[in-house]
Amino acid sequence: MKTSISNKEVVLGVTGSIAAYKACDLASRLVELGVNVLPVLTRAAQEFVGAVSFEAITGRRAITGMFEPLQNTDVEHIAVAQRAHLFLVAPATANIIARAAHGVADDWLSTTLLATRAPILFAPAMNTAMYTHPATQANIELLRARGCHFVGPGVGRLACRTVGPGRMSEPAEILDAALPLLSGRTDLAGKRVLITSGATHEPIDPVRFLGNRSSGKMGRALALEALGRGAHVTVVYGPSSVDYPLNAELVEVETARQMADAVVECSRNADVIIGAAAVADYRPEQASQDKRKKTGSPLTLALTENPDILATVSRERRPGQVIVGFAAETRDVMENAKSKIAAKNLDLIVANLVGGDDAGFGMDALRAAIVDKRGNSADIGHIDKDALAERIMDQVVGLLRGSL
Ligand code: PMT
Repeated sequence: MKTSISNKEVVLGVTGSIAAYKACDLASRLVELGVNVLPVLTRAAQEFVGAVSFEAITGRRAITGMFEPLQNTDVEHIAVAQRAHLFLVAPATANIIARAAHGVADDWLSTTLLATRAPILFAPAMNTAMYTHPATQANIELLRARGCHFVGPGVGRLACRTVGPGRMSEPAEILDAALPLLSGRTDLAGKRVLITSGATHEPIDPVRFLGNRSSGKMGRALALEALGRGAHVTVVYGPSSVDYPLNAELVEVETARQMADAVVECSRNADVIIGAAAVADYRPEQASQDKRKKTGSPLTLALTENPDILATVSRERRPGQVIVGFAAETRDVMENAKSKIAAKNLDLIVANLVGGDDAGFGMDALRAAIVDKRGNSADIGHIDKDALAERIMDQVVGLLRGSL
């Protein structure tokens, strides 16, 4: 099992607007989220941006015409229309909006738009006079009434050197609208989810540090799941070996104290805080300014305790705020998890057994149980981090609704 968006199929329709170049960024962000993107370029779109760019980004052959050789063999428009989970038309010109509104099927994109029953999201881009023209507005209203979705356009300086509505929304904003449609879940829409992820590095000297083996995979999976359900996501992350989704607000830190400062700052307007980071409990009392030299004698490092980030934010907790922690343990997992949930005043804790060779730090899976503050626990066993993220987010939604 994967997050609610990975491996879903998006048909990305690109039409003839100067904003077509931004569709490359959009495609890239979707691919990065694990989504399969089929690029479809109208003839006019190809005047602005080449199919090759989309093919390189998506790893899929771009559809460029109804009657191009090979385009009706392995990729057949009715099958694609049925298979897709979302049609995203970005940029959407006045022309494609008009054709979709009136059921005109005269090229590959308009034909599949007519054939699909998947959600359709348009990101309009056009000159202000065209956008505000009663014909375009009536077409948009017609499409909205039939259940199509729109994001934007924004107001700004347009390619025609005027300022007004017509500028295509930025890719991040388009994704915010697209992901809940893709996952079919909107249960975190309007919620702000703050996630800590990765390791912390505590400097010993300018070249050495105390660290741990966290890769950030668990935090990344949580971020993707929350984005897929419509949340505004902030990830405060320490050193990690994964790329975090660009659609999240990303705050990079190195040490536990930096992470604490960033989390306290971001927690003020968060509805949900999830601590998936492996935060160093201790740091060297004094980091040396110069590289420490070998002396031939044993070296003793004096360590001092770091602030407990989750305990700090839970002391300042706003009413209704949900706080979730992780407990990485090598033994007595449940006992330790239960004492941590109480000590840090958490709503949930994900107890996980680390140190084995098939789950834990750096791997794709965990051995986990979810424990709530009443002591109820669900032993999940060996589970993929993506699937665990989905289970955690289900519990979070229940807590936000007050039903757990
Ligand atoms: O990143 P991956 O490779 O995917 O691995 C995932 C993981 C194993 C790191 C993750 O699932 C996990 O268990 N994270 C918490 C690891 C940890 O530090 O556990 P802990 O028992 O020491 O801390 C308990 C909780 O308090 C954690 O939520 C931790 O983020 C938080 N904490 C800890 C210390 C501290 N100073 N401040 C904190 O907020």
